[in-house]
Amino acid sequence: MKDFSNVFVFNHPLIKHKIAILRDKRTGMKEFRELIEEITTIMTYESMRDVELTPVQVETPLEVTTQYKVSDDSIAIVPILRAGLGMVNGVHRVFPTAKVGHIGMYRNEETLQPQEYYCKLPEGIENKTVFLVDPMLATGGSACDALDALKKRGCKKIKFMAIIGAPEGVERVAKAHPGVSVYVSTLDRALNENGYIVPGLGDAGDRLFGTK
Ligand code: PRP
Ligand code: URA
Repeated sequence: MKDFSNVFVFNHPLIKHKIAILRDKRTGMKEFRELIEEITTIMTYESMRDVELTPVQVETPLEVTTQYKVSDDSIAIVPILRAGLGMVNGVHRVFPTAKVGHIGMYRNEETLQPQEYYCKLPEGIENKTVFLVDPMLATGGSACDALDALKKRGCKKIKFMAIIGAPEGVERVAKAHPGVSVYVSTLDRALNENGYIVPGLGDAGDRLFGTK
């Protein structure tokens, strides 16, 4: 895949370790859910490096000092339902006051086209930094449609985080949304004939929620 200035692939040893366990088909629902959350926390920490800080006056036991904080109302998390729900707590661990919006998308298994079925976003989302989250970035259709939906509602600063990306999907999102920072913790080889990421981890939603 060619390089895109808005794409960040983590390749961190700790993330690699956790992803190896996540991929394993013997990993059960509880551990899978915990790993998704832990990986998201590490990704959030890294992807918040350029987040805006506001100066505040803090009184220590010794003196008043100017310090810098992320404003409580400046961050929103938007999971793409349903697998994105598994990443929400991971962002909340780093930034617990973030409001949460939801965008419902499912992929038609035959056409692989995403269908939007739900959208509810926090008030004032247009002025927040939005973390759009979904563990899987396969063809990129769901992410592109969710990003269009957020932009249509006025969002200007958006970060998209996926745990596993396929080169096709990452490239599609990076090209269609050059102003969006795309974070993937690992880039996999390809998509198979059914639109699944390989080697991948299977169906993220099913493994998170115990469905088939
Ligand atoms: C999965 C995944 C993404 C989408 C990725 O969701 O969580 O949303 O597929 O595929 P794409 O990049 O080709 O659009 P799915 O549609 O299976 O819905 P679910 O989360 O309800 O399982
Ligand atoms: N959605 C998933 O859950 N897994 C894939 O590999 C592709 C799309």
